[in-house]
Amino acid sequence: MDSLLIKGGTPLRGEVTVSGAKNAVLPIMAATLLTPEKCVIRRVPDLSDVQFMGQILASLGAKVSVNGDTVTVQAGKIKPFGDYDLIRKMRASICILGPLLGRLRHSRVSLPGGCVIGTRPIDLHLKGMEALGAKLTVEGGYVDAKAKRLIGTDIFLGGRAGPTVLGTANVMMAAVLADGVTTIESAACEPEVVDLAFFLSSMGARISGAGSPTITITGVKELHGVEHEVIPDRIEAATFAIAAAATGGEVTIHGARPDHMSAVLDKLRDAGVRVERKGLTLSVRRNGTLRPVDVTTQPYAGFPTDVQAQMMVLMAMTPGLSIITERIFESRFMHVSELARLGAEVSIEGPSAIVKGGRPLSGAPVMASDLRASAALVIAGLSARGSTLVNRIYHLDRGYEKIDQKLRGLGARIQRVEQP
Ligand code: EPU
Repeated sequence: MDSLLIKGGTPLRGEVTVSGAKNAVLPIMAATLLTPEKCVIRRVPDLSDVQFMGQILASLGAKVSVNGDTVTVQAGKIKPFGDYDLIRKMRASICILGPLLGRLRHSRVSLPGGCVIGTRPIDLHLKGMEALGAKLTVEGGYVDAKAKRLIGTDIFLGGRAGPTVLGTANVMMAAVLADGVTTIESAACEPEVVDLAFFLSSMGARISGAGSPTITITGVKELHGVEHEVIPDRIEAATFAIAAAATGGEVTIHGARPDHMSAVLDKLRDAGVRVERKGLTLSVRRNGTLRPVDVTTQPYAGFPTDVQAQMMVLMAMTPGLSIITERIFESRFMHVSELARLGAEVSIEGPSAIVKGGRPLSGAPVMASDLRASAALVIAGLSARGSTLVNRIYHLDRGYEKIDQKLRGLGARIQRVEQP
């Protein structure tokens, strides 16, 4: 199992280019199941989650090929269920439920189960499918959804923590081939949902309101093949921006969508980081001492939960007290105990982490627990004095394309080492 060995203390300097968004490409790959025609997806990041999704589509009968950052899928003849173990491994595989149900009126998907960031139920996905007319049975670790007809209706998708991103994607993908009009209320407004809606519309779907809490879908009889370029990864861009600030460096981030990152950029500016936007380019530079800021994660356009851990590292290095409140996933603080190994002073009070910042971090061996926690540990390692060994980096490879290579391009001293 690979680890990352980081020798910290070098400010990141230079230029880096953002890859396509993981959380946009996964549902878009699932959406290719809606047509027997060929779909070409460009700007696809080389990630293990993307490879998994390709294998899942192939296990359903689709032909999947990869050429550089272009993935081509042709789901000519497909079946309603694939490889149980493959599907179970990746939570995002739940988003094959909607398109399979839409196209075949039958879908059988293994239940994704919990993960380290929380219980992660799928009740809202199931509620949406039932509202469209599917009969659901949950048995033997599978959810089986069948419908003679899917009929458009009004569906409220708000949950305890607000809207659901993949739930909105799933219902949209089932509703595009339903009879009549579906209205999703309390829909997720994330840019990844908008990108999916754009992909579906290019296939011939009739969707309006994506990016707002009300999405209206008028069902069509069939969809056709399409070519599409995935949006840039706003979480990857934010991770590089925070890494630049945390190491006291200056980084120019190309190919980003700063308009998708307003909440993060606003907090960075409040913290005293110099952020400049010019078209698709972001320049980030630390200007002297940082100021503590409080952060609360929220659905888009609020501060993203996927940047909470990285922001905590920056606050751990900032003199003063800051409060970081997690409102989306109840146990997304697994990084706190690992950051403590590097000397960060963070205590947890319910949904909030109280960060007493300003103590210099020093390197230590740490264990990555999930994707964004891993990114936070890498930023901490880059900022700390001495060496940090980040173990279990397969999490990182799920969601950050060539992160070690990109960081080396910015002057970081970071090496991938194979652990026996
Ligand atoms: N929820 C329910 N019931 C449901 C679905 C969700 O109660 O049926 C709750 C969740 O437990 C959570 C909240 O609703 O409290 C929001 O979860 P959501 O469904 O929006 O999360 P998701 O769609 O499963 C996506 C991203 C996550 C990101 C969240 C929130 C993908 C593949 N995953 O997950 O990304 O954190 O939205 O923005 O798009 C990551 O990239 O590291 C990652 C975890």
